[in-house]
Amino acid sequence: MNQTVNMKVRLGSLELRNPVLTASGTFAAGREYSDFIDLSTLGAVVTKGVSLHPWAGNASPRIAETASGMLNSIGLQNPGVEAFCAGDLLWLATQDVPVIVNVSGHSVEEYVAVARRLESEPTVSALEVNISCPNVDEGGMAFGTSCPAAAEVTRAVRAVTSKPLIVKLSPNVTDITEIARAVEAEGADAVSLINTLLGMAIDTRTFRPKLARAVGGLSGPAIKPVAVRMVWQVASAVQIPVVGMGGIMTADDAVEFMLAGATAVAVGTANFVDPTTTSSVAQGLEAFCRERSIQSVAELTGAVRL
Ligand SMILES: Cc1cc2nc3c(=O)[nH]c(=O)nc-3n(C[C@H](O)[C@H](O)[C@H](O)COP(=O)(O)O)c2cc1C
Repeated sequence: MNQTVNMKVRLGSLELRNPVLTASGTFAAGREYSDFIDLSTLGAVVTKGVSLHPWAGNASPRIAETASGMLNSIGLQNPGVEAFCAGDLLWLATQDVPVIVNVSGHSVEEYVAVARRLESEPTVSALEVNISCPNVDEGGMAFGTSCPAAAEVTRAVRAVTSKPLIVKLSPNVTDITEIARAVEAEGADAVSLINTLLGMAIDTRTFRPKLARAVGGLSGPAIKPVAVRMVWQVASAVQIPVVGMGGIMTADDAVEFMLAGATAVAVGTANFVDPTTTSSVAQGLEAFCRERSIQSVAELTGAVRL
């Protein structure tokens, strides 16, 4: 029972002490959560989306609770890459945890400019390029729903970064494996999925949409079976590692994603319910392996019995 479990996993050249990450946009840059958990218990902190210039985000209301989940239309509000480097990134540099920066853009040039700016920052361990945000009018999901566009962004960012490159995929497509293959062919080191599913909720008292923007991204336990299915499909279609997310609340949920083929997992909406979830999922994953005499957590990846 005292056997130690090897919790290390790799995303390209990036070695993580365990497979549990924070999902972008649900953990800010970690500072707010550091009052609740020790960040060094995580595999990595994935920051909220960072763009070239400051983005104001969308009008309120931009959050609505739904059955077993939530809709959001934040719109990637952020202060821009320079302010990020001068603020959150400096703080993250003092923390004992790898930092993966989530990159957003309205155009290929903007993604490239952010990646170029982050190249000289030693605190940044890897980039996660978000080609899947449903909440911005230009860019965002438009890149993640077309193979040529997904390939173009990946190729352009790959050309300017030597850091491990993770591309975040949209579930709002007919066949996610085509997009995964397209970004793998252009040099992505890993893919992460899923981003939110496009959804809508209407207030029956006012007849108005619950979100000012009418539609938004659905996240939380409601989307987990869709996410597990997509992780399974993508992991069978590509050779690069998959980071799985979508509704993870417990260590058991994380195990499910790994069995489906994920090398690492990310916890998102659960952070709003209980800010200690990431840390307890990491501990629970280790306990799951120890109780079953699994020596390395990586053995779970793709171990689903069909
Ligand atoms: C409020 C909110 C903000 C988000 N912001 C981002 C973002 O900036 N970049 C990104 O790639 N994904 C963003 N996401 C998507 C999450 O990272 C994640 O892919 C999705 O919510 C599914 O995981 P979950 O069900 O555990 O939340 C956001 C999600 C939420 C709920």
